[in-house]
Amino acid sequence: MADLDVLVVGQVARDLVLLVDDVPEAGRSAPVRRRRELLGGKGANQAVAAAQLGARAGLLGVVGDDEVGEHLLAQARADGIDVAPVVRRRGVRSGLIVDLLDARGRWRYLEDLPPATLLTPADVAGAGAALRAARAVLVQLQQPADAALAAARTARETGRTVVLDGAPPDPATADALLAAADVLRADARETALLVGEAPGDATAGLAAGRKLVRRGPTLVAVEVPGEGNAFVWPDGQLFLPLSDTPTVDSTGAGDAFVAALTVALLRGEPTEGAARYAVAAAGATVGHPGGRPALSPGALADQLDRIPAG
Ligand SMILES: Nc1ncnc2c1ncn2[C@@H]1O[C@H](COP(=O)(O)OP(=O)(O)O)[C@@H](O)[C@H]1O
Ligand SMILES: [Mg+2]
Repeated sequence: MADLDVLVVGQVARDLVLLVDDVPEAGRSAPVRRRRELLGGKGANQAVAAAQLGARAGLLGVVGDDEVGEHLLAQARADGIDVAPVVRRRGVRSGLIVDLLDARGRWRYLEDLPPATLLTPADVAGAGAALRAARAVLVQLQQPADAALAAARTARETGRTVVLDGAPPDPATADALLAAADVLRADARETALLVGEAPGDATAGLAAGRKLVRRGPTLVAVEVPGEGNAFVWPDGQLFLPLSDTPTVDSTGAGDAFVAALTVALLRGEPTEGAARYAVAAAGATVGHPGGRPALSPGALADQLDRIPAG
C-alpha cells in the first residue's frame, strides 16, 4: 500500500445499466435492449480509470457486509485496485445505482445509497496511513464534507497532491476544501455551486476558473456544457472543445477526465498536455453505456486525434 500513485476517496456502488429505446410511461413496459452490471460509483470509476492508465490505484470508500459488497471488492481487485482501505460496514447494504438510459443518451439514475455507505471522519482517520503514502489523493466530493475535508487535509499536510472532483453539497466548507487542494475539476452544475452560476460559454468557463484558482488550487478545470472544458492555472489558461464522438451515455466521463488529469500530472506532463489527456479520456467514455471507463491506449490515441486544437 505504501506505493500507491493515486488513492481515490469516494463512492463505491453496484451499477445496473439498462438501455431502452424509450422510458415507458406509468402503466407501460419497455424491453431492455442492453444490460450491464458493473462495479460503479464515482470513486470506483475513478480508481478503475487510473488503473487502466497504468497508475497504482487504491480506493477508500464504504461497502456493506452483504454479498454485493463482496462482489464489488472482488471486481475492484480484478481491476488491479488496492482495496485494503475500503471500509466494510456491518449490517449495511451496499449502494446500488440504476442508470436508465434511452436511445437519445438521456439518463435517469435511481440511487439506493444508504447513509451508512458514506465515509465518516473516523473512516478517514482509520485510513490515515494510506492517505499519507499515496502520491496523489483524489477526493470525490459526493461524500460528507467533514470526511472529504479530513481526507484532503491529511494528504495535504504530508505534501501529497490533492485533487478534488465536484463541489461540496454544503457551501460552507468550500473555502476550506479549495484551500487544501492542488487541483479542482467541476462539471457545470458543480461550478454553479462554487461560483454562483454555470458557465454558458468558453469565456465564462475561463472566468470561473480564474475565480477558483484565486481560492487555492493551482489548476482548475471547469465544464462548459455542450462546448468543452476550461483549464486555468496561475500563469496560463486553455479552452479545449469536446471531441466529435457521439454521446451514448455521458455517465463516468467526468470521472475518467479527473483520473486522467491526475495521472498525467503525476507523470510530470506539462499542464496543456495533461488537459488534452483528460479530455481524451472523457471522450473515450461517452461512447458506451454505463460509467465504467475503457481507457485502452488505442482509444486514447484515437481521441487525442479527434480533439480540435484549443
Ligand atoms: N465528446 C466529448 N469529448 C470530450 N469530453 C466530453 C465529451 N462529452 C462530454 N465530455 C465531458 O465529460 C465530462 C462529464 O462530466 P460529469 O458530468 O462530471 O460526468 P460524471 O460525473 O458522470 O463522470 C465533462 O467534462 C464534459 O465536458
Ligand atoms: Mg462528475
